[in-house]
Amino acid sequence: DTEEQLNERAPIVTIMGHVDHGKTSLLDYIRSANVTASEAGGITQHIGAYDVMTGTGKRVAFLDTPGHEAFTAMRARGAKVTDIAIIVVAADDAVMPQTKEAINHAQVAGVPIVIAINKIDKPAANADKIREELSQLNVLVEDWGGKYQCQEISAKSGQGVEELLEKVLLEAEMLELKANANREASGTVVEASLDKGRGYVATMLVENGTLKIGDIMLAGQHYGKVKAMYDHRGNRLEAVGPATPVQVLGLDGAPQAGDKLNVMETDREARDIANKRQQL
Ligand code: GTP
Ligand code: NA
Ligand code: MG
Repeated sequence: DTEEQLNERAPIVTIMGHVDHGKTSLLDYIRSANVTASEAGGITQHIGAYDVMTGTGKRVAFLDTPGHEAFTAMRARGAKVTDIAIIVVAADDAVMPQTKEAINHAQVAGVPIVIAINKIDKPAANADKIREELSQLNVLVEDWGGKYQCQEISAKSGQGVEELLEKVLLEAEMLELKANANREASGTVVEASLDKGRGYVATMLVENGTLKIGDIMLAGQHYGKVKAMYDHRGNRLEAVGPATPVQVLGLDGAPQAGDKLNVMETDREARDIANKRQQL
């Protein structure tokens, strides 16, 4: 127990920024091997969680957050579970209120920031104006002598996206992220809802350990046995290791986004704690 076996784990990266600056488009491009265009250009309403194998063979877990004003709490939650924040700013727009707020959430959480200046394919794009506005927030980018890595990108054409991922992976390397896959899982609830036919479905981020079919979960005020697990492509999974987003079936209710996931020894123990929490 004292000699815990820690191994390198994938980084958890949250994409944040002002509404319509291109967060989901960036993630769609990164996932472009199998894009589901269902949300492209739409309004992100909840935190989406995906994991992606990058060109260099390194896996990255991404959280996509909404940029809309109403979703402050979600951005704060995203910043909390993340290792690195990509702050997306549209080069044809400006540093906006939710850009500032996203930077603030990341800084409060002590999370390193990588700036992505997006939409540089647009005729009205002015990346230096964005750099200037960022510098006014004390976010001085590397190419201007500061400490923040920055990459011009187009989420539409893909220009600069590979370089952005390289910068994110460099940042991840410096963090020396570690986890122990050989222990019971712990993690965070990203979102949860009731699905007609499947029951309660929770998107979880397993942060440490391995979550397995049959494990007894405790998440916020709810508990249950892991009945089935799926990745974001709908593939069934038997076991899920550290820094992996997963859809989990088997809880007796929908926990709150941000609730902690723990695996318990016995059904009874999990039920007792869940019941106690419900009475608070
Ligand atoms: P919210 O989730 O609603 O906060 O928005 P978002 O930041 O996820 O932006 P989204 O990806 O929905 O993109 C908003 C719009 O900008 C869509 O119409 C995209 O097609 C467009 N867009 C995103 N990135 C680019 C880009 O690099 N170039 C161009 N030309 N358009 C882009
Ligand atoms: Na949008
Ligand atoms: Mg979006």
